[in-house]
Amino acid sequence: MNKEYRFQHKHILEMEQFSAEDILYVLSMARSFKEISARPIKKVPTLRGKTIVNFFFEPSTRTRLSFEIAAKRMSADTFNISASTSSAQKGETLIDTARNLEAMSPDIIILRHPSSGSPLLLTQHVNAAIINAGDGTHEHPSQGLLDLMTVMEHKGRIEGLTIAIIGDITHSRVAHSDIIGFTRLGAQVKVAGPTTFMPPHIESLGAQVCATAAQAVEGADVVMALRIQQERQHDPLIPSLREYARFYGVNRKLLELAKKDVLIMHPGPINRGVEMSPDVADGTGSVILDQVANGVAVRMALLYLVMGGEKGGDTQ
Ligand code: CP
Repeated sequence: MNKEYRFQHKHILEMEQFSAEDILYVLSMARSFKEISARPIKKVPTLRGKTIVNFFFEPSTRTRLSFEIAAKRMSADTFNISASTSSAQKGETLIDTARNLEAMSPDIIILRHPSSGSPLLLTQHVNAAIINAGDGTHEHPSQGLLDLMTVMEHKGRIEGLTIAIIGDITHSRVAHSDIIGFTRLGAQVKVAGPTTFMPPHIESLGAQVCATAAQAVEGADVVMALRIQQERQHDPLIPSLREYARFYGVNRKLLELAKKDVLIMHPGPINRGVEMSPDVADGTGSVILDQVANGVAVRMALLYLVMGGEKGGDTQ
């Protein structure tokens, strides 16, 4: 790492904004924060006095809770609002809502929203740091970072690995962040899915499109399955879930084509028996719950960094 390096991002909007050096810096920071979650008293004063708002317009278990846990472990004050309990229900626009939040002086607003680009829009209307917790089909940068951290932890490197991502690439913001992150650190990313789930631009992100799941998985170091994002599809894009599972479900037979020490990943939530069989999700090589654990560490690092933290700062 260049000694002069400084993390210079006020907002976390997409993996695309990060250089390889930025990514490696966030991951090294996340590794240093991870140990805090193993302590008997899981709290440091790093963000004492900071106010963090979790603003979620879509359901979430992992992302919302891990941002909240990350903030609380760093002694920040956290507040949660959702679309269903906010005045968005009464017709208030996103910008008006954000301006009203701003009037209460939050330091960070974490936004999940069904519209791609909504976190960027907020940066133009409020002074708080904005973190994208998943926007439409665009990106989910903190998920991409925790996926990179998990692979790095288990394989010791990203460069030279083959990552197979199977499923609904079109509607998956996770796939977009992962393809950018993994390729930026020198991995080869292969994708496979029904043609209706394969966006035309995906090769421009650096992914290799495979005709079958078997072609993508052959020789892979990592196999990641994606949930079918039915909430983003207006018309059915596959004939049936049973056929999908037959051709694109990640099961033990498919994994015989991968490397012997293949890592199995899924961003969650899993539809067991559709995109992944239960024995694979719970079996040898599965690092799905490590992904969740690393989500807390990565989000601690991101909160710290957007508040101007520097390595060697107050992480005690
Ligand atoms: N991976 C992920 O974004 O999960 P949640 O929808 O539960 O936050």
